[in-house]
Amino acid sequence: MDNNLDLQLNEALKRIKEVKNDCLVKDFLDLKNDILGKKSFISEAYKTMKDLSNEEKKELGAKLNNIKEQLNKAILEKENEINKYQLEKKLSEEKIDITLPGETFTQGGVNPFFLVKNKICDIFLNMGYEVVDGPEVESDHYNFELLNIPKDHPARDMQDSFYIDENTLLRTHTSPVQARMMQLHQGKPLKMICPGKTYRRDNDNATHSHQFAQIEGLLIDKNINLGHLKATLELFLKRLFGEERKIRLRSSFFPFTEPSVEVDISCFNCNGKGCSMCKGSGYIEVLGGGMVHPNVLKMNDYDPNQYSGFAFGVGIERIAILLYGIDDIRRFYTGDLKFINQFHKKGE
Ligand code: PHE
Repeated sequence: MDNNLDLQLNEALKRIKEVKNDCLVKDFLDLKNDILGKKSFISEAYKTMKDLSNEEKKELGAKLNNIKEQLNKAILEKENEINKYQLEKKLSEEKIDITLPGETFTQGGVNPFFLVKNKICDIFLNMGYEVVDGPEVESDHYNFELLNIPKDHPARDMQDSFYIDENTLLRTHTSPVQARMMQLHQGKPLKMICPGKTYRRDNDNATHSHQFAQIEGLLIDKNINLGHLKATLELFLKRLFGEERKIRLRSSFFPFTEPSVEVDISCFNCNGKGCSMCKGSGYIEVLGGGMVHPNVLKMNDYDPNQYSGFAFGVGIERIAILLYGIDDIRRFYTGDLKFINQFHKKGE
């Protein structure tokens, strides 16, 4: 009996000793349970005591207590050893080598497209305009019909379109938002701009892209005339290109405005003398606009006898190309860091 207990003690001590320092917590707990738990040899041995004489009880009790003490001690030592090992391992893994070079964070630039878009929006926000949004997938009705461009109108040819089905297309300009906003304001004064993407079936090259962006402007109120349009655009273009710029309005045609104008600014490269940038004319075309056509007012719930308004459309990339001297429209869309990083500090 005694011999057997000693054997089992040695076996248990051996098992404790052999536990690896990186063992799983669960495995160690299982082992502890095996050695000291209810079904362990030592617990079983205690159970045999009840059948013994007092003398024998005393002797076996002392022996078993001694064994149990040894086992407890061995387990505690192992536990300490494991904890120490794991702590050291953790510390060494978390050690920071302060001699390593630090991580560098580079700050990108803002795409000049957004510099210009934000700047234009800011200028009009300061004049009290609301900035609105409209859908890029548009119905024929809004893109053309409500803008006084019926099905057979030749002006449709100027805007080669991407059709989704017979009556749905990618908007060819931001002007459909004019109609949408007029209907929303239901015959009340209105002052809005709308920046957004537009699409035309162009062959992509340095100056054309099948996707580009415009900012639409629309103001409707009582007694609005062409002078208001001119003054507004003059203020806008001077804020954008500089106070020294002169503004010129040339007559033009858009089905949804009457009269319609093409707006030029005096060339900022040669100051109006004539150079390659302005093709010798001294002026550069920057946008189109005009007085909202009475048909458009009528179709969109405004009484042309009471209300009048002006509208204009600006190409965002075109303005950015002019402002920053960019050679190819495709640069706006490629995300090339060599290009973008040149705009760290330019603009706001
Ligand atoms: N929608 C016209 C275009 O894309 C521009 C424009 C807008 C003209 C508003 C007049 C008034 O060419």
